[in-house]
Amino acid sequence: MTSAASIDGKLYLEQNRVLVDQLLDRFTPSPDSDPRSIHAAMRYSLMAGGKRIRPILCLAAYEYSARGRVENLENVHRAMAGLEMVHTYSLIHDDLPCMDDDDLRRGIPTCHKKFGEGIAVLAGDALHVIAFQLMAETGNPSVVLELGQAVGTQGMIGGQVADIEAEGKQVTQADVIYIHTRKTGALIRGAVRIGALLGSADSATLRRLTIYGEKIGLAFQIIDDILDVEGDQKILGKQTGSDSKNLKATYPGAAGMEQARRDAGRLIDEGLALFENEENALTYLARYIGQREQ
Ligand code: IPE
Ligand code: IPE
Ligand code: MG
Ligand code: MG
Ligand code: MG
Repeated sequence: MTSAASIDGKLYLEQNRVLVDQLLDRFTPSPDSDPRSIHAAMRYSLMAGGKRIRPILCLAAYEYSARGRVENLENVHRAMAGLEMVHTYSLIHDDLPCMDDDDLRRGIPTCHKKFGEGIAVLAGDALHVIAFQLMAETGNPSVVLELGQAVGTQGMIGGQVADIEAEGKQVTQADVIYIHTRKTGALIRGAVRIGALLGSADSATLRRLTIYGEKIGLAFQIIDDILDVEGDQKILGKQTGSDSKNLKATYPGAAGMEQARRDAGRLIDEGLALFENEENALTYLARYIGQREQ
């Protein structure tokens, strides 16, 4: 049982990454179907790897919420694939010359470097569309709405707007928290909530898992900023120093590196504390996020 105290977190992550790869293959149009160029570009970015943390958080939140009532995983699988597609779309667009102008992603040239800007924009758009189709196919309107809120102008897209508008400006820690909770935190929170909704979480559990998602979601982006300064490009699969090149508003920039580390650690601890002393897949994933180098 995945939510049992004895969970082997490493194995859980490894096995579910394989599952996510299989789901993405299954739900993405075949590279042999027309228009081939865009299907190739979508698959290129999707299948390049990545930690798959959002779909795995969704699954873990589902299992936690459904407890013994784990039934039809088909809908959870659709939601998992949809979440990774939205995330990959956001990366393709984030890397474009008009955004962060990055050349390396998931260890290979960015989508626009390989396929050109036009196809990269459209590949992102297409992944975004399929993600919503997959959510609709779950038959549960609340998960469609949840994804819309997570990625819309009050969520990820709003955060990306604030991110580019803050370039080169003096920002406070509160400004960075505003950006980070939206550009990254919102989709992580949404991934957890979609899993909980599909698992028919009771309202207290949904509230608790929402707070968990918010804490680890903000921590995730603080750590992303830290890794942009002191991470290893080979492990990360993307160029370090991108934020300073773009004069980005970052957490270490606003609060200092020591404070950034402390605050990320505190957020992870607060996420863990929501489960008291229980060890489960969600606590494993929170620790993983806190310690990641990739
Ligand atoms: C990178 O996300 C972009 C952010 C939101 C920080 P991930 O660090 O999850 O990237 P992949 O999916 O593992 O490549
Ligand atoms: C990305 O933030 C947030 C989204 C893609 C929505 P970053 O711009 O910091 O992500 P990386 O560092 O390029 O992965
Ligand atoms: Mg960016
Ligand atoms: Mg970027
Ligand atoms: Mg970054």
